Amino acid sequence: MDARPIGVFDSGVGGLTVMRSLIDLLPGESFVYFGDTARTPYGPKPAGDVVKFTIEIAELLSARDVKVMVDACNTSTAVALDTLVERCEIPVIGVIEPGIRAARRATRSGRVGVVGTVGTIDSGAYERIAADIAPELELVSAACPGFVEFVEAGDTDSHQVHVLATRLLAPLITADVDTLVLGCTHYPLLARTIGDVMGPHVVLVSSADETAFAVRDLLDAEQRAPVGHVPTHDFLTSGSTDRFAELGARFLGPEVASVQGWQW
Ligand code: DGL
Repeated sequence: MDARPIGVFDSGVGGLTVMRSLIDLLPGESFVYFGDTARTPYGPKPAGDVVKFTIEIAELLSARDVKVMVDACNTSTAVALDTLVERCEIPVIGVIEPGIRAARRATRSGRVGVVGTVGTIDSGAYERIAADIAPELELVSAACPGFVEFVEAGDTDSHQVHVLATRLLAPLITADVDTLVLGCTHYPLLARTIGDVMGPHVVLVSSADETAFAVRDLLDAEQRAPVGHVPTHDFLTSGSTDRFAELGARFLGPEVASVQGWQW
């Protein structure tokens, strides 16, 4: 039995969508969440910067004695997961492989769309990992710059966001995908708009639940927190604690009770 917390991180608040699934599936576990809101967004940044930031966050969470680390950020997983796995002594789980596994289960035609930030899509990580674990899938991907900003502004279904989604998702409709991976922490909050644009025959897949299953499978019975352990949920942000608490309540819910600031 191991009562140490699970570490979860993201470029900001978006990873709280993954944290929601983790808390729901593993309610007896303690969590430490780090959101790098001072340096968000990672999506448009050079890969080298994102790798450096990711390593810094991993060091911070390791110092808090976490037993597993979850890289909840698609952009970071895309460009930094391999480096992280090499450097960390504890297991690290990213969000891309779980997303591909979920898509593989959902698709009937094998034609799967992937949407993500510019950094995620340009890295080719989805194609690389799919070639490894699901080579029968035919992936068609599209970067969706602007989606993250709309979500953070609290706008998930206005006319403007619809117009943007219609333009950005057009190549995926043309490609006739039957499944779409929401390959960014923020996109599950746009599921209604994305679903309207893609049409009812396209299954939307988010990696949050599948990532939580991967963490549960990794924590064998001996690594689970003991029965009777009172779980704690700690939140750290490199940016404004007030803004994190406000957005966090929307992304996660009432668990975002108190937020601590972190200075790089
Ligand atoms: N967390 C990022 C991701 O999942 C989205 C926000 C950002 O660009 O930092 O790719």
